[in-house]
Amino acid sequence: MACAGSPPRLRLLLLVLSSCAVAAAADAFRCATPPDEGPTIRILHAFGPCSPLRQSARFDSWEDTVMDLMTRDESRLAYLASLATAGRSFVPVASGRQLLQIPNYVVRASVGTPAQPMLIALDTSNDAAWVPCTACAGCPSASPSFDPSRSTTYRPLPCGSPQCGQVPNPSCPAGATSCSFNLTYGASSLQAGLAQDSLALASDVVQSYTFGCLQKVTGNSIPPQGLLGLGRGTLSFLSQTKGLYGATFSYCLPSFKSLNFSGTLRLGPVGQPKNMKTTPLLSSPRRSSLYYVNMIGIRVGRRVLDIPPSAFTFDAATGAGTILDSGTMFTRLVAPAYAALRDEFRRRVKAAGPVTSLGGFDTCYNGAVTPPGITLMFTGMNVTLPPDNILIHSTAGSITCLAMAGAPDNVNSVLNVVANMQQQNHRVLFDVPNARIGFAREACTTA
Ligand SMILES: *[C@@H]1O[C@H](CO)[C@@H](O)[C@H](O)[C@H]1NC(C)=O
Ligand SMILES: *[C@@H]1O[C@H](CO)[C@@H](O)[C@H](O)[C@H]1NC(C)=O
Ligand SMILES: *[C@@H]1O[C@H](CO)[C@@H](O)[C@H](O)[C@H]1NC(C)=O
Repeated sequence: MACAGSPPRLRLLLLVLSSCAVAAAADAFRCATPPDEGPTIRILHAFGPCSPLRQSARFDSWEDTVMDLMTRDESRLAYLASLATAGRSFVPVASGRQLLQIPNYVVRASVGTPAQPMLIALDTSNDAAWVPCTACAGCPSASPSFDPSRSTTYRPLPCGSPQCGQVPNPSCPAGATSCSFNLTYGASSLQAGLAQDSLALASDVVQSYTFGCLQKVTGNSIPPQGLLGLGRGTLSFLSQTKGLYGATFSYCLPSFKSLNFSGTLRLGPVGQPKNMKTTPLLSSPRRSSLYYVNMIGIRVGRRVLDIPPSAFTFDAATGAGTILDSGTMFTRLVAPAYAALRDEFRRRVKAAGPVTSLGGFDTCYNGAVTPPGITLMFTGMNVTLPPDNILIHSTAGSITCLAMAGAPDNVNSVLNVVANMQQQNHRVLFDVPNARIGFAREACTTA
């Protein structure tokens, strides 16, 4: 807990030791964050300069960072594709580097009574909630874990409980009194005890929240301090807090360069923007957690690209179509859509010189690029991306790439994923009762 959340004196001490020291030592207060208030919770990018979760040694150069994020995306996309085929075990496609597939954004939450603070990762494409518990075998050792024995409100759920029937792969071997379950997350397998305890987010406390207390983990791709699934399934946060928040939330995701907890997660229908552009929210029974929308086209400048409608067609049965995902970094488009976008983009920025590539990006330039406006067109809503959501620049400014790519052709080539870099600095509303997704510009990145 280096930058955010620590008392000021402790923070100063830890800054010197932590990985964000380099970025922040000259200006230590920049990592400071005001407390969360009411149902508004601040969001931190897990790889931002102030994040205590960032492992500096893994990010030696900008190129390495970008490659790493791309690699994580490949694995994430395979994971999203795997959600379609329930029961089949997940096989990661990416290899080579050690994967730390944690989603990009974390919030401060507390579990238990008295409250034990954690930095929990947000994942809009997942339903489960779990935290590493003490005595967990294989959980990330350097991170805090939740100690059930220190909470007076902790309660393991028995085998016959209704919740035990809702978790994936429940197990209640002879003699077991409480329910356990197994699940996969990215390339990791998890075994957890099903339990309930208080979950505090900002000043709200959710009593008897059902979650997994991790007992055993294999693989190293889990968020180190736990996961809060913001998907739409039965045991998700949305379902469990329906009475409190009405299955409605919005977020503003900051850029990964943002220093502090500058993004926000706003829970419940109160305080959401009134006049925002919206598009219908669609559901696929095959992938009930995912937030599908109907993308119908892409415009570059004023020109609507010639893309076959089949590239965007939503199919509830197969899971083809377009989703919004908070855990993928760079937007992926199916082959014909990406090819049309890339070709038009290259035509418009010809003056920037010859095209080069970097990792999974195939449209990069040495030097400055003035991007054309790119508009994602949805039913009833056009979202024009600002330049920061289109381009990724090297630290030194010498390389600039179009920050999107084609869907990996070895995984799910029918799914378009609108990723977090393209959503950043927008308020994105997830309004499940009214079946709509809203977008409005909001600057929530600080640097
Ligand atoms: C983040 O840091 C900036 C200074 O860089 C400061 O102005 C801002 O108030 C901080 N924001 C939060 C949410 O802490
Ligand atoms: C869950 O995982 C544990 C350990 O990884 C294994 O022993 C057990 O058989 C699994 N249970 C089920 C129901 O898959
Ligand atoms: C989106 O842009 C297209 C093409 O410019 C236009 O025809 C359409 O009316 C716009 N849709 C909305 C909802 O503004």
